[in-house]
Amino acid sequence: MVPASLSRRSFGKLAGVAALGLTTHADAAESTAVGSAPFPKDFLWGTATSSYQIEGAVAEDGRGRSIWDTFSHTPGKIEDGSTGDRAVEHFHRYKDDVALIKALGVKAYRFSIAWPRVFPDGVGQPNPKGLDFYNRLIDELLANGIEPYATLYHWDLPQALQDRVGGWQSSDTSKALGDYAAYVAERLTDRVKNIFTVNEVGRFVNFGYGWGIDAPGLKLPAAQLNQARHHVALAHGLAVQAVRASGRAGTRVGAAENIAACVPAIATPENIRAAEIATRELNAGFLGVVLEGKYTDGFLAYAGADAPKFTPEELKIIATPNDFVGLNIYAPQFYVTASDKAPGFHVLPFPTSFPHMNSEWLRIGPEVIYWAPRIAAKIWNIETIYISENGTSSEDKIAADGQVYDLDRIMFLRNYLTQMQRAIAEGVPIRGYFLWSLMDNFEWIFGYGKRFGLYRVDFETQARVPKLSAAFYRDVVARNAIGV
Ligand code: NOJ
Repeated sequence: MVPASLSRRSFGKLAGVAALGLTTHADAAESTAVGSAPFPKDFLWGTATSSYQIEGAVAEDGRGRSIWDTFSHTPGKIEDGSTGDRAVEHFHRYKDDVALIKALGVKAYRFSIAWPRVFPDGVGQPNPKGLDFYNRLIDELLANGIEPYATLYHWDLPQALQDRVGGWQSSDTSKALGDYAAYVAERLTDRVKNIFTVNEVGRFVNFGYGWGIDAPGLKLPAAQLNQARHHVALAHGLAVQAVRASGRAGTRVGAAENIAACVPAIATPENIRAAEIATRELNAGFLGVVLEGKYTDGFLAYAGADAPKFTPEELKIIATPNDFVGLNIYAPQFYVTASDKAPGFHVLPFPTSFPHMNSEWLRIGPEVIYWAPRIAAKIWNIETIYISENGTSSEDKIAADGQVYDLDRIMFLRNYLTQMQRAIAEGVPIRGYFLWSLMDNFEWIFGYGKRFGLYRVDFETQARVPKLSAAFYRDVVARNAIGV
C-alpha cells in the first residue's frame, strides 16, 4: 500500500529506482561496511528436516509404528487434528527434494532416520528394506554433491519400546538405541561421515514425559522425569561408543541439543559471568553431564530426593568424548543478571510485550546465537560447534502474483546470521549452520499450521514453491556473507 503522504510522482520515482536496482555511490559504500564480512572459507552451510515431519509412508516397506503415530492419532493432541501419515511425501519425493536442496547451493543436509523403519519393534529383527530408503537418499545426496548429516533419534521412538519397557523410563531403551546406532553405523558410515545421536533432549523429555504435551503424553513426577533424562544421556553415550566401534574410522558424532540459552540482559562482565553459571546449571541434566561426566552439585541439590540414580560406570559412558556439539538455537530462553546469592544469577521475567515471530514461543533475540555458542564453548571447552537448527515460522501467504514474500523470515535470518558472524569473528568455533527447515512440514503439536520451510508446500497437491527467503539464503551461501 502506498502511504497517503507519498505523491504519485515521488512513488513512481522510488519504484523506478528500486526496479532498476539503482543505488547511489554513497549507499554502496555504506552497504559494504554493514554485515558483509565473509564467513570462513570452509564454513558449512546446510538445511535440516526430520523423518516423521516429512516422510509420510508410515506403513510402507515394513516400517513399525512410532509413539508419534499413536500420539498424533489421539484426538485432541494436535492443534489442527492432523497426523504425519502423509506429511510432505518425502519418502516418495526425495529425489525432487534433493534437487531443492541443491538449488539452495548448500553443501550439507541434516535429516533423521526413523528408528521404526530400521527396527520395527525397536530391537530384535532389523528391516533392511527400511534402511534401504536411507541408502537411496544418501546416494542421491552424494550424487548431487551434498554431504549427509544423519540424526539417529528425532523423537519417533518405536511404539513397541514404549509399550514394553515404558520408552525412556527404562535403560533398556538406552541399550536399544546403542544397538540401533551400531547397526546403522556399520551400514551407512562408508558414506555418512557425521552422525547426530539424539535431537533436543530438553524438549522431548520435558514435553513428552513431564508435561504430557508431546508423545508419549506422560506426566511423570520429577524423580521419574529426571531418570528418563538420565536414560537418554546414557543412550547418547552408548550411541557414541557404538558409532566408534561399528562405524568407519573417522566418523564424527555428537548430539543436537536445544541448549537452555541464557543471555546476559546487559552485557557487563558480571552479567556475562552470571549467564555462564546459569548456562551450566540449567543444562546440567543433559549437555552438562555429557560434557563434564557429572551432574553439577547445584543440579543434584536442587533435585534432592528426585535426583536420578546412576552409577560411576554410566557417567563414564555418558561422557565418552564427542567430536562436535550441535546446538539448536531459536529463542533466548532466559535473560539473566548477576546475583550475590547462590546460584549466582537472576532470571528476569519477560514482559508480555516482548516481540515474537509467528510461533508464539519464538521470541526474537538474535543475540542468542552469539551468546549461547560463545558461553557453551567457554564453559565446556568445546572445539567444534554446529548450529544444528535455526529458523522461524512465518505466515507464508501466497501473494496475488503467486510468490511468497516472507520478509519476516528474511528479517529474522539476517539478524541471527549477523550475530552468528559476530561470534565466529570473535573466535567462537561455529563450523556450520543448518537452517530449519528445507520445506514446510508437520510441526508436531501445531500440525501443518506453522510453516518453517524455505520452500512452501501445498499440503494438498504437495507442490513445492521457493519462498523469497530461499533466494535470500541462496545469496548468503553463494557469497559466503550476508549481503554485499
Ligand atoms: C526443533 C525441532 O528439532 C524440530 O523438529 C522443530 O520442527 C523445530 N524446532 C521448530 O519448532
